[in-house]
Amino acid sequence: MPNRSTKSGAIRRRQFIQSAAALGAGFMILPSGVLRGADAPSNKLNVALLGTWGRGEAHFGAISSENVVALCDVDEEHLAFAAKKFPDAKHYVDWRKCLEQKDLDAVICCTADHTHAFVANWAMNRGLHVFCEKPLANTVEEARVVRATYLKNKDKLATQCGTQRHANPNFNRVRELIRDGAVGELSEVYVWGNRQLRRDGYLPAAGDPPSTLHYDLWIGPSPFHPYNPGYFSGTSGLNCLQWNMYWDFGSGQLGDMGSHTMDLAWNAIDAGLPTSAEASGEPFNPEVTPVEMSATFEHPANDWRPAITVSWYQGGAMPRSPRPYIDLNKIGHGAMFKGSRGFLIADFESRLLVPFGDNADLTYYKSPKEEDVIPPLGHFQKQWTDACKGNLKTSCDFDYSGTLIEQMLLAHVAYRVGQKIQYDGASGRVTNSDEANSLLSRKYRPGWTLDG
Ligand SMILES: NC(=O)c1ccc[n+]([C@@H]2O[C@H](COP(=O)([O-])OP(=O)(O)OC[C@H]3O[C@@H](n4cnc5c(N)ncnc54)[C@H](O)[C@@H]3O)[C@@H](O)[C@H]2O)c1
Repeated sequence: MPNRSTKSGAIRRRQFIQSAAALGAGFMILPSGVLRGADAPSNKLNVALLGTWGRGEAHFGAISSENVVALCDVDEEHLAFAAKKFPDAKHYVDWRKCLEQKDLDAVICCTADHTHAFVANWAMNRGLHVFCEKPLANTVEEARVVRATYLKNKDKLATQCGTQRHANPNFNRVRELIRDGAVGELSEVYVWGNRQLRRDGYLPAAGDPPSTLHYDLWIGPSPFHPYNPGYFSGTSGLNCLQWNMYWDFGSGQLGDMGSHTMDLAWNAIDAGLPTSAEASGEPFNPEVTPVEMSATFEHPANDWRPAITVSWYQGGAMPRSPRPYIDLNKIGHGAMFKGSRGFLIADFESRLLVPFGDNADLTYYKSPKEEDVIPPLGHFQKQWTDACKGNLKTSCDFDYSGTLIEQMLLAHVAYRVGQKIQYDGASGRVTNSDEANSLLSRKYRPGWTLDG
């Protein structure tokens, strides 16, 4: 249950900050020594950074203009690392205790994937704005609970999922080309990622964790696996690759680069939840998520396009190139859109239009007027801090990103049951497989609550 006193304190402070931001521009004549407006001390967010090394470090710059009042990490050495930059912040090793700190406004979550949905829910339940690194969830159920918690609070809270490539102008150029008919009527979308991290199974027990690492808190809600330094042997910002292939700690490339690359398509297709998913790949390993896998989702028509299929390929599986002279394998992470008049192929920064067939004369493509081009998003993290103080609007809120990751995680369910599953997005149930329904969620260790 939310802590009511903490919650109301946070909400009062947040309302004050939002009013200050709204008024800021109007207060041009100030008594000397008094600062108002966006940079005023009273208009800074009180931020907690959860996960203070690795990806956490990538947030240092963006939050250094706010008040970083709390640092939380299961590794005390990583806490000490961030404390050099933010010496006034309080320290925690358990994020649940950190979220009880009374003066918080906002939380940035850079912990391991298997705690993301927990942190996001707990923080929102306490009236806190949340930036959560991708992937937003590890199971379909987690994605749905995070999205529902956000939708309950969307008039009060700003959320952003850490898919920062979304700020690349190319994302909106792709959207414009698709919406303005450059490939004709859209029918199929293919998204792929070719990173391959092969693991055999959970690492064997190998000694005791260092005294500075609170290993049991790192395991958190997941089933216990003995300590092995291999889970922590990666470089800063890439250590996630040491643990995210294991079912209890991550969702492999589907959730990792898949969150970024599906975003390139998701931004262009205005999709909700799929009505079906089917997937196949290498043989199932109960300990490790698959390297090679492909999945196809069916999406109903919306108000500007017909029903489409969206496919995801990973670990070597690839869509077929529309032309032999185009080698899709040279695009490590990419998306391709097929329409009645051609193809659009994109990576994160660039795009290639391939008009196709005898009628592909581009007369059907209505290029946008200069004033209608979608404006740049600006700095991705700043979009969120501005939203916390202002209109709460972000491009990758937990509705958009929650739906995206729910679709992706359905691929793992379909892969595991080995059949095409029919999905009812309204109820979050698979309608043709009890086994699939049992795989939408996972069991947590006693004492851990997803929506606390
Ligand atoms: N947006 C991106 O481009 C991008 C890039 C890299 C990583 N990430 C994401 O960031 C997250 C962290 O990745 P990483 O490579 O930095 O991993 P990491 O293993 O280095 O973890 C980051 C920090 O979080 C701490 N931590 C882990 N679990 C914690 C918990 N339960 N409570 C408090 N602290 C905890 C670790 O001790 C470490 O200091 C992952 O979810 C990953 O997917 C995103």
